[in-house]
Amino acid sequence: CTEVKTYRIGVSQCSEDDWRMKLNDEINREIMFHEDAEVEIRSANDNSAKQIDDIRYFVSHGFDIIIVSPNEATTLTPVIREVYGNGMPVVIFDRNINDNTYTARIGVDDEGIGRSAATYARNLAGDNAKAIEIGGLEGSTPAYGRHKGFASEFESLGGTLLASVAADWNKEDAIRVADSLLKLYPEVNLIYAHNDRMAIGASETVRRLGRDDIKIIGIDAAPEIGIQAVADTLIDATFLYPTEGHRIIQTALAILKGKPYNRETILPASSAVDLSNADILLLQNETLKEETCKMRLLKARIDDYWAQHSSQTSLFYASIAI
Ligand code: FRU
Repeated sequence: CTEVKTYRIGVSQCSEDDWRMKLNDEINREIMFHEDAEVEIRSANDNSAKQIDDIRYFVSHGFDIIIVSPNEATTLTPVIREVYGNGMPVVIFDRNINDNTYTARIGVDDEGIGRSAATYARNLAGDNAKAIEIGGLEGSTPAYGRHKGFASEFESLGGTLLASVAADWNKEDAIRVADSLLKLYPEVNLIYAHNDRMAIGASETVRRLGRDDIKIIGIDAAPEIGIQAVADTLIDATFLYPTEGHRIIQTALAILKGKPYNRETILPASSAVDLSNADILLLQNETLKEETCKMRLLKARIDDYWAQHSSQTSLFYASIAI
């Protein structure tokens, strides 16, 4: 009888939010198709020290591979370099580190997203486009790319970027930043936020200050938050930040099984989600949720069947032995 090896995959998420929940769902859905693998997901809740502990937990508990989305590049680089240097395979996804001490990386073209957002913003705000930018956590690589792409493209298209302030990816900080920037720059006609949570925070501020003339765009397009906010006209547009949880798991398993995989994957920037397509995307998401539910049900039935089958088989062999 051959031994079935179980591959243990540790996933270290930097945060817990709508976008990461979507990604975690995809990871859990993909793992259903790999009988020889199991996954544990830990979230650092935006705390780099906690994320270092989570990575060490996976090492000390005998996991076979670690998948990490590093909260801040500089703080997380040393531990990832150390773990990788000791022979543990590491897959980096979404946020990056400062060097290339990893087995594979799946990232997104954040600069490209910034450029697409700039083109859209310029069209939305017209010839006299005056924007403020509410940025992600300084030191997390997508915040850098999203700023760089937006700032250069927006200004080359004739827009003016009045100010750029970090709000650490969260809604509360974005409300505060939007409030003070709108008082400093009353001429603003567009807010570009690096994610939808911050865009929704900015939208609350804009409404409270009676500045409904200001256009707002975000990034992520997780259905329940970002796309819903577009459908509800809280924000004007969002840009899809791909999650690709299935691809992350497939890459990890290819590494563990010695199969071919891409060392660097950069997923492309997307076009805008706005009122022209938000409803259809929400509908597609409902369909996906229903299919996932059915898949889970089917998987539970198959597991049940095999559990019964194997107990009957062992009873049969036991009776022969007697
Ligand atoms: C989720 C998040 C997203 C953003 C991504 C960038 O934790 O803040 O909103 O697009 O991280 O890494």
